[in-house]
Amino acid sequence: MEPLERGTPIPDPLTPYLEVNRSQPRHECWVTGHMVAGLDGTAAIHGRVGALSTEPDQDLFRRMRQIADVVMVGAQTIRNEGYAPMHLDESAREQRRMRGQSEMPPVAIVSRSLDLDWSSQVFTGAPEHARTIVITCAKADPQRLADAEKVATIIIAGVDRVEPAEALQALAGLGYRVVLCEGGPRWLGELVAADRLDELCLSISPMMGGDPLPVSIAPPGAGIAQFSLKSTMVADDTLFLRYEAKPPDGNGS
Ligand SMILES: NC(=O)c1ccc[n+]([C@@H]2O[C@H](COP(=O)([O-])OP(=O)(O)OC[C@H]3O[C@@H](n4cnc5c(N)ncnc54)[C@H](OP(=O)(O)O)[C@@H]3O)[C@@H](O)[C@H]2O)c1
Repeated sequence: MEPLERGTPIPDPLTPYLEVNRSQPRHECWVTGHMVAGLDGTAAIHGRVGALSTEPDQDLFRRMRQIADVVMVGAQTIRNEGYAPMHLDESAREQRRMRGQSEMPPVAIVSRSLDLDWSSQVFTGAPEHARTIVITCAKADPQRLADAEKVATIIIAGVDRVEPAEALQALAGLGYRVVLCEGGPRWLGELVAADRLDELCLSISPMMGGDPLPVSIAPPGAGIAQFSLKSTMVADDTLFLRYEAKPPDGNGS
């Protein structure tokens, strides 16, 4: 065991996250999960994440969107949190242009039910070049699908449910190769179970007592996924941990 000691402050906490090489994914896309948990592992307080996220975490969370070709979110998070299209400041947009990325990543929402408010900001406020994407399955309700098509780009990835691998293949086919998944726990658990989570940026917030909702919920039959700790940062009382998936031979460091 070794202590993780506080060191010299880094000028910009985003820098180590921007420097990660995400160009060699294990599968079709590089998938980064970005989540915050309380000390007891809770992923929400009264159904929302806001109160759980400290100021440095909120700042990093917003700015991390800069790495993404697309920001992927489960439908329940959209319903609870009321998402809007991504907004990046001019310097972030400039850095994206220099990396050959589009100015703004679109939001991609995963839903079987398509029980979504098509008049909400996340659909109506998205610019044409970053139109919101809805990822659903072939057995989705045809009327809701027709409504969705009016305001979003549709990806069908699976028959009864969205299959993570099919969803990511479709995103890669559209040129989205770095996927930032902002949860929620159910969709993140699906990605983990399908061995599609390459990286997890997990903030540990100095709070306890939130909802009985872990950061990732494994679907039935899912195996155990192993990760290697790649970096740590601390701001006040919030820990920022970055993990990468361990290759199957266990040689992840
Ligand atoms: N701590 C954090 O960092 C963090 C991050 C995000 C969210 N949250 C919190 O997490 C809570 C919501 O999380 P959650 O786990 O309930 O929801 P979620 O993962 O955001 O969304 C679950 C929904 O996604 C769709 N979905 C998931 N897997 C699917 C599959 N294989 N095929 C088709 N659709 C699929 C379904 O949508 P339909 O029901 O539409 O079919 C499902 O109900 C909220 O309280 C939110 O505040 C916390």
